[in-house]
Amino acid sequence: MTGSARPHPGPTSRLKEAGGPVLDVARRAARGVRPAVVSAARALRHTWRASLQFRVVTTTMLLGLLVIVLLGSYLYQSISNGLEEDRVSTATQEASRLATEAQQAFDATDSTESAAQLGLFARDLVQQKLASPGADASRQVVFTRSLNNNSRTFVATVCSDEACLPSIPDDLRAAVSENPRRQQYKLTSISDAAGATVPAVLVGSQIELPVAGAYDLYFLFPMQREEQTLEIITNTFAFGGVALVLLVGAVAFVVTRQVVIPVRRAAVVAERLSSGKLNERMRSRGEDDLAMLGKSFNEMADSLQSQIRQLEGLSRVQQRFVSDVSHELRTPLTTIRMAADLLHDSRQTFDPVASRSAELLHNELDRFEELLADLLEISRFDAGAAALDAEPTDLRDPVVRAVEAARGIAERRGSQVTVTAEGDCVAEVDSRRVERILRNLVVNAVEHGEGKPVEIIVAGNESAVAVAVRDHGVGLRPGEAALVFNRFWRADPARARTTGGTGLGLAISLEDARLHDGWLQAWGEPGVGSCFRLTLPRRTGMPIDEAPLPLETPTQTSPVRPSAAGAGSRSAGCTDGPVPRSSSVADHGSRQP
Ligand SMILES: Nc1ncnc2c1ncn2[C@@H]1O[C@H](COP(=O)(O)OP(=O)(O)OP(=O)(O)O)[C@@H](O)[C@H]1O
Ligand SMILES: [Mg+2]
Repeated sequence: MTGSARPHPGPTSRLKEAGGPVLDVARRAARGVRPAVVSAARALRHTWRASLQFRVVTTTMLLGLLVIVLLGSYLYQSISNGLEEDRVSTATQEASRLATEAQQAFDATDSTESAAQLGLFARDLVQQKLASPGADASRQVVFTRSLNNNSRTFVATVCSDEACLPSIPDDLRAAVSENPRRQQYKLTSISDAAGATVPAVLVGSQIELPVAGAYDLYFLFPMQREEQTLEIITNTFAFGGVALVLLVGAVAFVVTRQVVIPVRRAAVVAERLSSGKLNERMRSRGEDDLAMLGKSFNEMADSLQSQIRQLEGLSRVQQRFVSDVSHELRTPLTTIRMAADLLHDSRQTFDPVASRSAELLHNELDRFEELLADLLEISRFDAGAAALDAEPTDLRDPVVRAVEAARGIAERRGSQVTVTAEGDCVAEVDSRRVERILRNLVVNAVEHGEGKPVEIIVAGNESAVAVAVRDHGVGLRPGEAALVFNRFWRADPARARTTGGTGLGLAISLEDARLHDGWLQAWGEPGVGSCFRLTLPRRTGMPIDEAPLPLETPTQTSPVRPSAAGAGSRSAGCTDGPVPRSSSVADHGSRQP
């Protein structure tokens, strides 16, 4: 009896055992299906947003479907009501005729001697005359004693086919008994031979039997034929509806194509125009709205092209003018320079006023020469004549030379200039141009640094080498970080006209950086200082992935060389706090970081 010790699993546990793996499979299948559904929904949403044609076709088809469903339901309802009314009318007429025939038959019969004889007569009458003959099942008959009949003679109920007393609703029987002179009918449903439910009309009326009193006659008319007719109509509607929706979709597709294709062409042409292909035009044929669009578009492109050409011409004339004037001025300036030098050298022999004038003339001539040199350089950039003479250079060298060049002005202003560097700083650059950029950045930092320390940081990464020049002087107001690179822009033009530079320094620096496919970027905040970062690709033509130094607050790196300018040490780095919101940042270069 060892086996009986094992408990028999209850219905719940059996369900769990059977359901566990099934549920797991279902869950796994659901997990597998979900990403597919999500990605399909995403693709559908994307197509919906991206394609006007898809939107129009889908909307038209959905609206068409809605109209067809509404119209189809209405028509179906009216047709089904019509068929039903028609059937009820023929059923009541037929029932009335048959009831009259039955009444006449009973009135004329002489089988009234016993209830059994009367019953036999009634059965013969129902089955042979009143019920539909043979296999025709278009009507069934029930003959039964009325509810209000109190006669002692009792005739048995007679039914044709399946229809029998239980299938006659009590309310109909009561209605027939209450109002024996009137015919009553009711819509009901029966099961056919195949078990399907079929609607039917049930008509009841009362007849008077000799001796036995009032008896009811019920006729059941199944509406099979009407059902079949409705089924055919429904199928036709469904098929026609689907065909109509597809047709509407196809029409919408063709129509929208006629509009969408020219619009797409216009978009392509507009894109080409904006990429600089000014000769691109749209094809415009005919006189319809799309042709008008094409014509207007082309007129707009024409006018834009002519204006751009005009501006280009004007700009070329201006550049030419600047270049010519600068060249022409060089010869007289050389003569003036010689004369001014002569006067400057012999100023000790002049009276104090003339001596001061000779000194001023000498200084202003220096500035004039610088301006002329800058203008000639800018003209070379504008004419596309500037060429890169790149060779592998350790960026620390031009940095040190630039700092050396600024030593005098740094000493005068009392600024400490420190240089720190980290890692491999060798890059393929034009050292003359890089030195010019750095000289300008260092001089600017010292000039606007208000005697505070200036920190220069050099660093490199895989793709680039960068130099950041950070000062703690006047800084830049919001928006000025972009303006500083404009030609002749100076924060304080009045001061700069007498003491400062020409305002071309950063414009030339930017052109030099661009020639290297590099970036020159500025950050500044009033009263906090500025930071200018030059980022150059390690090799010519190599794209810069990322700048090796942050723009706003370059991190401190290890000191590199002994003092290059001023009285300061070189350990300090550009490591200030986080950048406040009001700071000004601007990026310039062949590609924005
Ligand atoms: N480090 C800085 N801090 C604050 N302002 C600056 C700084 N560097 C440049 N600027 C502003 O940008 C202006 C333009 O600088 P840029 O170097 O182009 O011209 P410049 O120094 O005035 O003349 P140039 O360099 O041609 O002799 C300067 O006049 C100054 O107002
Ligand atoms: Mg400058």
